[in-house]
Amino acid sequence: KPEPTQGSGARGLWSSRLAFILAATGSAVGLGNVWKFPYVTGENGGGAFVLVYLLCIAIIGIPIMMAEVFIGRNGRHNPIASFRLVAERNLAKPAWRLSAIIGMLAAFIILSFYSVIGGWAASYIGHAAAGDFTGGTADSVGKIFGDLLASPVELLIWHTVFMALVIWVVSRGLKGGLERAVTILMPALFLLLLAVVGYATTTGHFGEAVSFLFTPNFGALTVKGVLVALGHAFFTLSLGMAIMMAYGSYLGNDVNIARTAVSVAIMDTVVALLAGLAIFPVVFANGLEAGAGPGLIFQTLPLAFGNMPMGSLFGALFFILLLFAAWTSGISLLEPVVEWVEEKTSLGRTASASLAGGACWALGIVSILSLNVWSDVTPLGMFAAFEGKTIFDLLDYFTANIMLPLSGLLTALFVGWCVARESLKMDLALDGGAFALWFNLIRYVSPVAVVIVFIYNLTA
Ligand code: PHE
Ligand code: NA
Repeated sequence: KPEPTQGSGARGLWSSRLAFILAATGSAVGLGNVWKFPYVTGENGGGAFVLVYLLCIAIIGIPIMMAEVFIGRNGRHNPIASFRLVAERNLAKPAWRLSAIIGMLAAFIILSFYSVIGGWAASYIGHAAAGDFTGGTADSVGKIFGDLLASPVELLIWHTVFMALVIWVVSRGLKGGLERAVTILMPALFLLLLAVVGYATTTGHFGEAVSFLFTPNFGALTVKGVLVALGHAFFTLSLGMAIMMAYGSYLGNDVNIARTAVSVAIMDTVVALLAGLAIFPVVFANGLEAGAGPGLIFQTLPLAFGNMPMGSLFGALFFILLLFAAWTSGISLLEPVVEWVEEKTSLGRTASASLAGGACWALGIVSILSLNVWSDVTPLGMFAAFEGKTIFDLLDYFTANIMLPLSGLLTALFVGWCVARESLKMDLALDGGAFALWFNLIRYVSPVAVVIVFIYNLTA
């Protein structure tokens, strides 16, 4: 394998396979697991949806993650440069790097509003610990959320805090920053989750949650549910954002990519299921609506925590968990962009992280304002499909429904059709049958599945 030649003076490697797994899992585990997975499961009827989702992870998510890690490790540069190098080596057009450009742009945009939501989690730690939810009613809890969204200053403060946490870690580099952060935060997150699950077992509704999550009721499954499962498999594994390419660029050549990708997917899924076991008993115990949608975490759960024994303590633990999950994801969103700035300019780590993070912070202000001052501003409102969508909504919509699938599709097509089979065989180190399976999935199954979701999301 050619050695990296340029732009990699400061480039190190993860100290172990585990370090990479923790970092990739830190990226994967986020609001998608703790917030989105439980509520889409609720909306789509429970067990049957979970089964389809697991299938999507296995046949689409894992193969695409392997493709992304392959490009990163084979190129050993920032995602765009890695893509260009891998294309060159395989006599393919450099234009394929559009996949990484779209992915990195998406990462940058997503971080700008992800940070705002991470800020909500940070502010809720204080609210829960201070007992602001204690004895709360739907109105009083709703007011706390409403007041937060209505205050640009408060949102800005928390957005700044969150972005500063992310910039701080990324500027300390691979080993002293990313690696150290995930080795502390990921075990902590896991323990917090177990504590909240343990608490959920005392609600008297744990069995109900278990059967809701694990009893397949295929009658409740719709076509829409299948497509939601597929889209979520993509989002939850942090695919289509050049993240796994950036993280893969620091992965040792002796590490088995397939086994590693499977480990990350399993950890992400375990956390999603545990989050379901933490949240649904509380939901059922309080007679709340399982399909309550996006409000579930910031409006419904605080209500439940506020009316349960030791709810302030467990509520605060829950929001610390949420902050940690969002923090490690935020780090992974900034890393590809910082890697790029570092290699493109003569700036060092800290300057690159501050520049990229600062620009992202500034863009976040747009999302903050569209929650209040600009809540009536709907730039694409003249099109029926975008009616009522604020700038925040549009950023979310375009990244999740267009940029991520497009980037993922291009990656799958590039790796499946343009990269020499020998090179893939050598780098992935799979035996004959496993290689053939992966190769067919990345060549045919993944692109077709992504196109179907893509079209569905555009028409729905
Ligand atoms: N994978 C994360 C989750 O499940 C979401 C995410 C998307 C994180 C993009 C980082 C980047 O919440
Ligand atoms: Na996830």
